[in-house]
Amino acid sequence: MSRILVIHGPNLNLLGKREPEIYGKVTLNQINRALKQLAKERNVELDIVQTNHEGEIVELIGKAEKNFAGIIINPAGYTHTSVAIRDALEAVKIPIVEVHLSNIYAREDFRHKSLIAPVVDGQVTGFGFYSYLLGLEAILYLLEQK
Ligand code: DQA
Repeated sequence: MSRILVIHGPNLNLLGKREPEIYGKVTLNQINRALKQLAKERNVELDIVQTNHEGEIVELIGKAEKNFAGIIINPAGYTHTSVAIRDALEAVKIPIVEVHLSNIYAREDFRHKSLIAPVVDGQVTGFGFYSYLLGLEAILYLLEQK
């Protein structure tokens, strides 16, 4: 059975309480449950991690190729700043999908630039928690094409 790594970046542990007008009222637990349900239906296994630490994300990505068929990542604030996460993703040769709850292109100027987008297979942005489910469908599609 394929295993997919899901990485939630900084502050996503606060979902539900954090700026609900932007991110919605859904909690990270609810997102993870919906992801696991879809994974079960699609017969894949998920490992889901949330961390507020850039270096931890870099390490997770660095070790991913051995154990996972693909990566879904919401780098959150690091999307716009982290050369280290971008470099780590660029080095990995499995399908990678970047997801965002909000539409980063409809927000402040500094969010319009993703350092991550050029080195991943694709980006899903703006569909609230559903971005993650679309991200999982996208990874499964990419794996089928292989
Ligand atoms: C986010 C968008 C980022 O700009 C922001 O820093 C986040 C969440 C999103 O999912 O919409 O923390 O990645």
